Amino acid sequence: MAVNLLLGLQWGDEGKGKIVDVLTKNYDIIARFQGGPNAGHTLEFDGIKHVLHTIPSGIFHDKAINLVGNGVVIDPVIFKKELDNLNTFDLDYRSKLLISRKAHLILPTHRILDAASEASKGKAKIGSTLKGIGPTYMDKTGRNGIRVGDLELKDWKKRYRSLANKHEAMIDFYDSKIEYNLKELENEFFEAVEMLKTLTFIDSEEYLYQAQKEGKTILAEGAQGSLLDIDFGTYPFVTSSNTTAAGACTGLGIAPNKIKEVFGIFKAYTTRVGSGPFPTELFDNDGATMAKVGHEFGATTGRPRRCGWLDLVALKYAVQVNGVTQLMMMKGDVLSGFSSLKVCTAYTYKGKTITHLPYTIEPENVTPIYTEMKGWSEDLTKMTKASELPDELNEYITFLEKELETPITIVSVGPDRKQTIYR
Ligand code: GDP
Ligand code: IMO
Ligand code: MG
Repeated sequence: MAVNLLLGLQWGDEGKGKIVDVLTKNYDIIARFQGGPNAGHTLEFDGIKHVLHTIPSGIFHDKAINLVGNGVVIDPVIFKKELDNLNTFDLDYRSKLLISRKAHLILPTHRILDAASEASKGKAKIGSTLKGIGPTYMDKTGRNGIRVGDLELKDWKKRYRSLANKHEAMIDFYDSKIEYNLKELENEFFEAVEMLKTLTFIDSEEYLYQAQKEGKTILAEGAQGSLLDIDFGTYPFVTSSNTTAAGACTGLGIAPNKIKEVFGIFKAYTTRVGSGPFPTELFDNDGATMAKVGHEFGATTGRPRRCGWLDLVALKYAVQVNGVTQLMMMKGDVLSGFSSLKVCTAYTYKGKTITHLPYTIEPENVTPIYTEMKGWSEDLTKMTKASELPDELNEYITFLEKELETPITIVSVGPDRKQTIYR
């Protein structure tokens, strides 16, 4: 019996989808615990690239059950598109895709509210994915939300109408001049809801409890990254859920003492999409090379991702907050060809050298202090064994393991399932 967690340690897009897909063969159940279609999880195998937003990344395997947990927010319209896409493959997802009755629904007006709120912020905007995430979680904590289980009740459309009316008044309040045709959006929404209702809704906490009793293995899949966590991230430039380990307990109903391994995924460098502070961000050729070689464009919005050196101050913080037991380093292949690499090991913060993440990491307060390391020139993408990795990469890995006091057990050398090296 084991529940393991897998989560991102940076600002998202670390490669969680790829690793969940790689590890699914070892699990009976893959369970997404938070976030919504703001996530874009990319999987690649047999020459095909898949991007999933709400559906867990184990869906392409024959046996594993894929559960959308109570902590997730679901946009039926996007969910339907994801399923339409799966329909183009020979895949019987119906028998292995389960949805928690307690997951909240993203309404069309949540999306408009997200856009109106962002527009009202001007330059201070969060850089939200505009998927309605913030407003939906606000209704959840404000105790106004509509949940998947409500769709089984007769009066849910009445509740929908009353909430949508309230949202319209709020949208007017923003005076954002955003134009929308609610009737059209609602037609699309109600059609997608009918499709959603053909799937299996369950009391997922009970399902997971019984599964644990039966000795089934569970992998909890996180979305976003630890620095986007609503409590521990770079607030207010964060998402609206707990992306860190504790989010798996509340987002699935799994007790903390049942969690065994915590897999922390990070890129060999750092990226961020959207606004907010990023101490090691590069504005030079090195950053442009990372963006180009790493194809750093958002899987959900297509926006270019900002790139920079690895930040060990931030990474150490994420390892601590999550209790990471194993690290997995992604995209080392992207750094091939850099003659030297920089790793941030401390900050100068208000004139002092510090090695912990301070309350604010705005550029006016924080200057990164770097350790320089030798780069490697070998192409890693065809390598399959740890013994093939170049010495300089091994030195990079050993340095990180020592600083982070945690072993790096997987080194990913390309987007494909097969480009995965175990150590
Ligand atoms: P996620 O949100 O954490 O699942 O990550 P994304 O899918 O948004 O972004 C990761 C991107 O990097 C995707 O395009 C992946 O296909 C790609 N990727 C994952 N691992 C590797 C790797 O080791 N090397 C390279 N070059 N690309 C990778
Ligand atoms: P995955 O799971 C990267 C960012 C947005 C924005 C902030 C708030 O693919 O790693 P939101 O739409 O949640 O209100 O946006 O969070 N963001 C992500 N960045 N990867 C993600 O997910 C993200 N989900 C949200 O860019 O800065
Ligand atoms: Mg992503």
